[in-house]
Amino acid sequence: MQVAAFCAERAIGLVVIGPEAPLVDGLADSLRAQGVAVFGPSKLAAQLEGSKAFTKELCDRAGIPTAGYVRATSLEQAVAALDKFDVPYVLKADGLAAGKGVVITESRTEAEAALTDMFGGQFGAAGAEVVIEECMVGEEASFFAITDGTNILPFGTAQDHKRVGEGDEGPNTGGMGAYSPAPVLTPELQTRVMEEIIKPTVETMRAEGMAYSGVLYAGLMLTEAGPKLIEYNCRFGDPECQVLMTRLTSDLAKIMLACAQEALDGVEANFSPATAMTVVMAANGYPGTPAKGGAINLGLAEALRDGGAAKVFHAGTAMKDGQLVANGGRVLNVTAKGMSVTEAQKTAYGAVDAIDFPSGFCRRDIGWREVEREGKC
Ligand code: AMP
Ligand code: GLY
Repeated sequence: MQVAAFCAERAIGLVVIGPEAPLVDGLADSLRAQGVAVFGPSKLAAQLEGSKAFTKELCDRAGIPTAGYVRATSLEQAVAALDKFDVPYVLKADGLAAGKGVVITESRTEAEAALTDMFGGQFGAAGAEVVIEECMVGEEASFFAITDGTNILPFGTAQDHKRVGEGDEGPNTGGMGAYSPAPVLTPELQTRVMEEIIKPTVETMRAEGMAYSGVLYAGLMLTEAGPKLIEYNCRFGDPECQVLMTRLTSDLAKIMLACAQEALDGVEANFSPATAMTVVMAANGYPGTPAKGGAINLGLAEALRDGGAAKVFHAGTAMKDGQLVANGGRVLNVTAKGMSVTEAQKTAYGAVDAIDFPSGFCRRDIGWREVEREGKC
């Protein structure tokens, strides 16, 4: 196996597995079997992201608050299950679908068409099973924890913007922007999330022989009845990672190594109290078929002025004949810090405006919920 051979050859001391697919495929297990320290869950534990049905059943066993659901393994079963739910229907392909495997619709006809597509192979094997869920109502927020299977280190909060359009309209994407911290997750709510969701997850996984090690990203719906789990990711999230790392003041490598060595006890994670915001610049067409090859002129001097108040992380870019071009759906992550969400937003969009990317677009309202709340204070 190439990664394991590379690690042995270079005496690599720690491997951090970022994306979900290799985790779900079991890369962490094969590296650990070779004695390599790994930050990231095993194949069994990564089912928390890899299978929606797995996570729903874990929630049942551990008493974790989440939406009611039905699993279906055939189109007939799924269509019949729609009768048990009110609109809007929430339909999810069971497996990994790059954040695009969830359909929410008010229309029964559209729901049946979406189910037909899922069972017809739209998401490949990921759609061989479908989960139909009760629709939860509330504001969404994300809570992060790093765990070595036993010890749990809370690792901050964020709010993502999954829909492609302003005002949270249009199809879901991998995320069009985020900010951290998310004040909507008050200290009281964070305590509830730890007690009612994170701890029971970590304890149940360990008790059942699937100890979870790595970062646990809980996507939450803050309902009137309290926080409920929408889904788990077994990675930091994109662009949540960019905003968390911009605020982290502790040594990340030490935390990850302690996690890999099951020695998180007593380790601390400290964050700047400032807000960090990332605005994603995507290629026209995303989340459908993105336009590739469009020229980007970063105007870096502009974007990075004010003593580095803004940073541009590259996601889907390439160099072609000496010109920076778009080479993916989400292309750039423009990230800025500020003492409030309003201030971080202003700096982030100042940098966005300095970038010339005519075949790209971004949402102009990242952080709108919190900016509105800050405006009322
Ligand atoms: P997921 O991939 O499971 O995070 O779902 C993507 C998005 O769909 C979430 O961020 C929510 O906006 C929405 N969603 C998922 N499940 C539900 C649910 N049960 N009720 C309401 N919205 C949901
Ligand atoms: N931005 C959401 C994710 O990475 O899953």
